[in-house]
Amino acid sequence: MATCDVTGVEVGELNPSRRVLLGPGPSDVSDRVLRALAMPTIGHLDPEYLVIMTETCGLLRRVFQTENELTLAVSGTGSAGMEACVCNLIEPGDEMIVCVNGVFGGRMQDVAERCGADVHVLEVPWGEIFDSSAIGDFLKKHPKTKVVGIVHAETSTGAYQPLEEVSRVVHEAGALLLVDAVTSLGGMELKIDDWEIDACYSGTQKCLSCPPGLSPVTFSPAAAEVIDSRESKVQSWYLDMSMVRRYWGEERFYHHTAPINMTYALREALRVVVEEGLEDRVARHTLNHRALRAGLEAMGLVYIPKSSLTTLNAVSIPEGVDDARVRGQLLNDYGIEIGGGLGPFKGKAWRVGLMGSGSTRRNVSLVLGALESVLADEGVKLDRGAGVAACRSVYSAK
Ligand SMILES: Cc1ncc(COP(=O)(O)O)c(C=O)c1O
Repeated sequence: MATCDVTGVEVGELNPSRRVLLGPGPSDVSDRVLRALAMPTIGHLDPEYLVIMTETCGLLRRVFQTENELTLAVSGTGSAGMEACVCNLIEPGDEMIVCVNGVFGGRMQDVAERCGADVHVLEVPWGEIFDSSAIGDFLKKHPKTKVVGIVHAETSTGAYQPLEEVSRVVHEAGALLLVDAVTSLGGMELKIDDWEIDACYSGTQKCLSCPPGLSPVTFSPAAAEVIDSRESKVQSWYLDMSMVRRYWGEERFYHHTAPINMTYALREALRVVVEEGLEDRVARHTLNHRALRAGLEAMGLVYIPKSSLTTLNAVSIPEGVDDARVRGQLLNDYGIEIGGGLGPFKGKAWRVGLMGSGSTRRNVSLVLGALESVLADEGVKLDRGAGVAACRSVYSAK
């Protein structure tokens, strides 16, 4: 194997292990998407690449279930999409409500404050979700609110936030609804137009099963109008949609050099989603989640209350079990990655993702079997075989 010497350290050929990615993201990337990533790089203004950009926008509209013209992939991860949505909709001094029930609502608050918004935080304990009437009452207290931001699938807790009623109360108050769909797009039902979501961002590395690096975003005509009629410049040059949209649109006005190979990968990942069909894909995520849940519960593990995402399973770590040792053993002995807890759940919860191409019966059975054996080593008293049996019965009953 070729090596090169970097200040006395031998750096060999890259050879990352093949893992089974069952954490909070990234999820497993199919060979099909990896092959797309490895296609020849062409110029970002090459006529062929321009076609690929247009096709990617069309596929994104299908997957977001929207007719929104302003739909594209921001160069950057999900947090760049978050920042793009907030900084384009908010001008300094604008009022914004941010609903915080975990890490990512908290991040949106931070981003909004950095954009100069006058932020009103509506908070519920981690793991809880928001009642639309509480959001309606909060909007009455803050009638000048321009944007309400909320997380559809809170990856830090497993909480699933229903959106239809929230959308109704937000619009009744004359505000725009901004949704974080990083852990739901392509895995859970998400209907941008039917649910009247004004701005939404996601990431490529979760239920789309693509490497991290792009952030799909979409803006409703009302949101696009707000962007068009801004009085001040967007404080981020890079994420300014008035310029980025000219790059992705008909005009092809040079803005930055898009990550060309990542666009290939996203295009292929979206083709996979559309070929499977959104309904079938959501049903697959639901079935595999139900099987995993039955298995984990049969092993005596307890879900974080209200954890109901089908893409991410958050369970409490049993008393006396060493979090890092279990995750280390799963990784080293079985090649399986699961996630630890964040914030108040650090050391107290595991997060098992079943996202995109990683949401399979094989992975459910694999993680249940491996976890059972690792927990037994940790001295946890469990009924050997009960987890896999419970999961099998969900599949047999379907
Ligand atoms: C719900 C949610 N929002 C935002 C993000 C940030 O995305 P990224 O890490 O791709 O920047 C994540 C990442 O895990 C997430 O789960």
